[in-house]
Amino acid sequence: MDAGLRTTLQEMPKAELHIHIEGSLEPELIFALAARNGITLAYHSIDELRRAYAFTDLQSFLDIYYAGASVLLTEQDFFDMTWAYLQRAHGDHVCHTEIFFDPQTHTARGVAFSTVIDGVHRALREAQVQLGMSGALIMCFLRHLPEEDALATLEQALPHRAKLIGVGLDSSERGHPPENFARVFARCKALGLHLVAHAGEEGPPAYIETALDVLHVERIDHGVRCLEDAALTQRLARDKVPLTVCPLSNVKLRVFDRLSDHNLLRLLDAGLVATVNSDDPAYFGGYMNDNLVQTFEALPLQRKHAQQLAHNSFVASFLDNVTKEKYLAEVDAFFLR
Ligand code: HPA
Ligand code: ZN
Repeated sequence: MDAGLRTTLQEMPKAELHIHIEGSLEPELIFALAARNGITLAYHSIDELRRAYAFTDLQSFLDIYYAGASVLLTEQDFFDMTWAYLQRAHGDHVCHTEIFFDPQTHTARGVAFSTVIDGVHRALREAQVQLGMSGALIMCFLRHLPEEDALATLEQALPHRAKLIGVGLDSSERGHPPENFARVFARCKALGLHLVAHAGEEGPPAYIETALDVLHVERIDHGVRCLEDAALTQRLARDKVPLTVCPLSNVKLRVFDRLSDHNLLRLLDAGLVATVNSDDPAYFGGYMNDNLVQTFEALPLQRKHAQQLAHNSFVASFLDNVTKEKYLAEVDAFFLR
C-alpha cells in the first residue's frame, strides 16, 4: 500500500464502536494484575499465555477471554485496563469510543457491579479531560446465560443509568438467538437506552432479522453474514442500519479464512453503513489502525473508502447531533488537506 494511504488511515479522525474492554487486556497487564491481586494463573508466562491465543472459533476464544478477565478485582484494575485502551486508541486518532463491558463476567465472581462500572467510567472521564476524547459505555448481556440473569443485571445497573448510553448482547452466538432476550431489551428501550446486538458473526442472517424485529436494535455488531440474504442486505442498506465490522477478529475466529476473503468491500459496495473496529484487540492481533491498515493491504480499498469508513464511524455513533456534526466536519476537513 502506498505510504500516503497508510498515513491517511492512521491519522484520520475516527470513532470506535465495537470494543470489548475486557478484550483489551494485554497479557502483560493480565500478569501484572494477577501479581497485584495474589492470583495464580493457569499459564506460567506471558509467552505461554500468548501461545494459547490460537483460536478455532468464537467459543475457543471466549474460554480464554473469560479466564483472562478473572484477574480483575478492584476498581483500580478496571480503571487501569480501560485507561491503557484509551491511550492506545488516542494514539490511533480515535476521538470517540463506545465501549462494551460484560458485568456478568465479574459479578458472577463476586465483584460488585459498582466496582466494574465505576472503574471503567472513571477512565472515560479522565480521557475526556486529559486526551480530549469522548466516550460512552454499552453494557452487554451474556447470551449464553438465561434472560433472568440479564434482567437481574439490569436491576443492578439502574442506579448507574446515567453512566450508560446503551446495552448490547454478546458471547456465544450459535444456539442463543436474540429473541431469547426480548423482555430485557424491551425494558432497556423503555429506559431510553440505545440498543445493539452481536448478530451474524457466527450465527445465521436470521439472527440479524430477529435482532432488528424482536429486540429493535439500532446497530448490528459484526453482521457480516447478512450478505447471504439479499433481501436482508437491501433492508439494512435502505434503513441505514450500521454494521460494526471487526476484520482481524473475523480472521482469528475463522469467520473468514484470510483477510483477503473478507467482505468489507462488498458490504460498502452494497451501500451498507459499515464501520471498522477492533473487537478484542489484545487477543486478535491489533487495535483500530492495525485493523484498518491490514484490511486495506488485503483488499482493493482506496482513499475514498477510508473517508467513507471515517464518516460512517461517526454517523453510526450514538453521539448527539451537534457533536456528530462537529466530528463529521473534522473528517471532511482532514480529507480536504
Ligand atoms: N463475539 C461475541 N462475544 C464476544 C466477542 C465477539 O466477537 N468478543 C467478546 N465477546
Ligand atoms: Zn464483539
